[in-house]
Amino acid sequence: MILGIETSCDETAAAVVADDGEILSNVVASQADLHARFGGVVPEIASRRHLELIAPVLEEALDGRDVDAVAVTTRPGLIGALLVGVSAAKALAWARRLPLHAVDHLHGHVASLYLRPLDLQPPFTCLLASGGHTMLLDVRERGGYRVLGTTLDDAAGEAFDKGARLLGLGYPGGRELDLLAHRGDPRAYAFPVARVPGLDFSFSGLKTALLYRVRDLPPAELAARRADLAASYQRAIVRALVERVEAAGAGTVAVVGGVAANSELRASLPGAVFAPLALCTDNAAMVASAARYVEAVPYPQYLSLDARATAA
Ligand code: KG4
Ligand code: ZN
Repeated sequence: MILGIETSCDETAAAVVADDGEILSNVVASQADLHARFGGVVPEIASRRHLELIAPVLEEALDGRDVDAVAVTTRPGLIGALLVGVSAAKALAWARRLPLHAVDHLHGHVASLYLRPLDLQPPFTCLLASGGHTMLLDVRERGGYRVLGTTLDDAAGEAFDKGARLLGLGYPGGRELDLLAHRGDPRAYAFPVARVPGLDFSFSGLKTALLYRVRDLPPAELAARRADLAASYQRAIVRALVERVEAAGAGTVAVVGGVAANSELRASLPGAVFAPLALCTDNAAMVASAARYVEAVPYPQYLSLDARATAA
């Protein structure tokens, strides 16, 4: 049994996963409400909140269980936020004389597919679309992947969140924009889908296009057209993602990360394998899952382990 810990952004999470991929507990304490009034995650506030939440979240996830190893996200993410999880993981592993797995958050998202009952087997092409990353990955084995394409500017989730903000929705806005779009006409506005070379993505132009649309509409009309704007904007993001997935070629396609929860994306890729909704946004079950495929650092060598803001 592996205890997973995740604190890379604004979710304080802990989970216990069995070696065969069964989830025994999965606790996520979201800080979204705390950051909402700032319209985005405030790193220093996130670190402090992780510090308050980490012990009770760990206690609830462990629920008196004995575990054989501890796994923690060490990169990439907000450095102060990561450090809270890494410090907690070291302390807990050291006190129990357990080995420690250092997990890459992106590998974690991919490994959300390896949990039961899904238990997806490579090879597959993976679209990882979250608030911080948008990547197309070639996955041949569970221990890693090769990057085929990545975003040149904003991540898809960031595009959703920035769009939601322009439309006066809360933070994080992806889910709310998704809901609002249901009531709108996706053909009402033509938003550009950036075409960059290869399998890379670009979303910053789209956000600017929405900014101009919103700015040009008189307030009364803006209120009446919000759903149409949301639907058209979402359509453009989903198109960009789907086009790239299709360009990557044949074979099994899997979608992970917060944006994998998007209803239009799920409907637009009917043949693809989607991570279960509860495992799309950040959680620690995916971290424990990934740990099964990365070598552990033995007790007590991991005391010198460090967090990193950037990918390895
Ligand atoms: O994977 P995640 O929890 O965090 C990162 O690692 O970044 O992803 C969070 C992102 C946010 O940008 C959020 O707005 C987006 O996922 N998201 C959605 C939906 N649910 C969450 N975007 C579009 N439609 C949704 N239903
Ligand atoms: Zn994430």
